[in-house]
Amino acid sequence: MKVAVLGAAGGIGQPLSLLLMKGLPAGSELALYDVNPVVPGVAKDLSHIPTGVKVSGHGAEQLEDALKNCDVVVIPAGVPRKPGMTRDDLFNTNAGIVKNLVAAGAKACPNACYAIITNPVNSTVPIAAETLKQAGVYDPRKVFGVTTLDVIRSKTFVGELKGLAPEDVEVTVVGGHSGETIIPLLSQIGVDFTAEEVEQLTPRIQNAGTEVVEAKAGGGSATLSMADAGARFTLHLVAALSGTESVQCTFVEVQGQPTEFLALPVRLGKRGVEEVLDAGEFSAYERKIFDDMIPGLKGNIAKGQAFAHGN
Ligand code: LMR
Repeated sequence: MKVAVLGAAGGIGQPLSLLLMKGLPAGSELALYDVNPVVPGVAKDLSHIPTGVKVSGHGAEQLEDALKNCDVVVIPAGVPRKPGMTRDDLFNTNAGIVKNLVAAGAKACPNACYAIITNPVNSTVPIAAETLKQAGVYDPRKVFGVTTLDVIRSKTFVGELKGLAPEDVEVTVVGGHSGETIIPLLSQIGVDFTAEEVEQLTPRIQNAGTEVVEAKAGGGSATLSMADAGARFTLHLVAALSGTESVQCTFVEVQGQPTEFLALPVRLGKRGVEEVLDAGEFSAYERKIFDDMIPGLKGNIAKGQAFAHGN
């Protein structure tokens, strides 16, 4: 397997690359690309770790080399939020970055899977899909928005509240990856919550990214927890492409749902998305917040699609 990290020298990119270096099977290739000239140094640094993963660094003019023969392209490139900003406020800068990177991937590795971290994910995933369509190489089984951070935050916060080991808490998170579009299905966990607990925990999970942005006080958004989430998703995807299936929540193109893209539990396998699973039963509270966020999520998706078409 060859995995490329685009934006590998950034706040997410560096720890993500470290986790992939440690987690990818021996014999894999890890290609690091960034416009930041420090990237060959990041690759050199990682190359001293004895893992059997071959790491290479690629600067601004070497995107094609980084992408050539890639199986999985992970994209954390872009600018982060500052306090007071929404993820959608990043659209004007990050939309073009994702479009250009995916357009390069369409040429250099037309069969690759894409794991998109760059915000606003609710819009950058539709941008990636439209860009690949324009190049004639779109496969909806291969484009993913990484929403794993919403899942691991849910595990952590539920574990803290209920005195449970966080890794043992299984939470399905559906919808999108911003504020009210993040819908953790707490009713399905098999743990008793009071209505008050649900009404406090749900917005905490929805606003957890903002919690980090505010705590960093102008220094950016989540990098380490996002790197952990991105690595978890990428390693599951790589394992699935090699034959070890798993079910992960991720933002993908869907059929028969109120929006064209939605985070749902997805069975990952050799071809990428093997099956988009049903989200299961919702409580009345979850149904309401899910229905209420649909117009906003539709707007995020349409904005991405319009951008990809130059509108
Ligand atoms: C997060 O959830 O932490 C990321 O999407 C970054 C952000 O801007 O909140």
